[in-house]
Amino acid sequence: MNYPNLPKDCTSMLCKHLTPEVFEILKDKKSAHGFTLEQIINSGLKNIDSGIGVYAGDQDSYAVFGALFDPIIEEYHGFGEEDAHKSNLNTDELNAPNPDPEGEFILSTRIRVGRNVDNMPLGPALSQAQRLEIESNIVSGLNTLEGELEGEYYPLLGMSKEVQEALIKDHFLFKEGDRFLDAAGLNREWPEGRGIYHNNDKTFLVWVNEEDQLRIISMQAGGDIKEVFTRLINAINSIGTKVPFSYSDHLGYITSCPTNLGTAMRASVHITLPNLAKDMDAFKAITDKYHLQIRGIHGEHSQSEGGVYDISNRRRLGITEVEAVQDMYDGVVALITAEKALR
Ligand code: ADP
Ligand code: ARG
Repeated sequence: MNYPNLPKDCTSMLCKHLTPEVFEILKDKKSAHGFTLEQIINSGLKNIDSGIGVYAGDQDSYAVFGALFDPIIEEYHGFGEEDAHKSNLNTDELNAPNPDPEGEFILSTRIRVGRNVDNMPLGPALSQAQRLEIESNIVSGLNTLEGELEGEYYPLLGMSKEVQEALIKDHFLFKEGDRFLDAAGLNREWPEGRGIYHNNDKTFLVWVNEEDQLRIISMQAGGDIKEVFTRLINAINSIGTKVPFSYSDHLGYITSCPTNLGTAMRASVHITLPNLAKDMDAFKAITDKYHLQIRGIHGEHSQSEGGVYDISNRRRLGITEVEAVQDMYDGVVALITAEKALR
């Protein structure tokens, strides 16, 4: 492979950090599971509008291709090569009384973490047989969950289009055909090996073999962030006794996209802020101050509708789970205060 032709107007972290020097160092390297630079950067090259543009094929990719991943991780998370990640799953330490007890602003709360199975390649480098083996092991573990976490697994293979589309529209299921994941190799042999587990109330869900091998999700209507967090932590602890998660002392939980490393946690609310939405500069000043990300109503790469936004923590690595949710909570309190002042 020769140094790629990166358009001048490309603003992704890939285009910024894949200098000719870095390319020369990495171009012939291979990770433990045989992942190459060409595979790591394919999504960002095929999708020049990417924000990031790289995916890892295994935990070792982060070490072998550190000359590219490290500056991206540093820029996204503010986390340096000498830093160590720390985890805190103690729900008692979260200070988050419902910021909207009257239910005027927050429609729903959702917190998810990504997880991958230890000693396996990540999704972009999985073989078909490995993906099926992972699905089978995860589902065996999920089928032992009890109480509020008890539920059923619904494989995507054989699911009717109507059921699939309803689950996507109602924010429970991942979408199909994402072009960023496609070019990363994450949609190979679709839909086989993918599926969703959920409890009866759809307050606890697990996505299997999407961008990460597990996405463990807790969600419910309203703004009781602590209840959502507590359910999630119970689920993570229970699943962790059945499925060994890939973890490193430096990078925390290992995920296929570097933005998800560390806690791998995204805590979000769907919130209606019609007045703030008329002044995006003021809106963004608050979200920047609290390290928040703004997404649209159907998740990443979607638009807001009717003044409803998906507001979540942006940082995931080098802060604890409690701090990630606290980032989101403190920012949401500030957004509600600003919205009320504009009424
Ligand atoms: P991820 O959370 O895995 O990073 P997305 O941004 O694509 O991925 O979101 C996945 C789905 O979760 C989308 O349907 C999105 O609308 C939904 N979602 C995210 N946050 C909330 C929330 N607070 N309430 C309800 N649905 C949500
Ligand atoms: N690869 C996409 C981009 O660079 C998404 C990056 C972050 N999101 C994610 N789902 N991993 O824009």
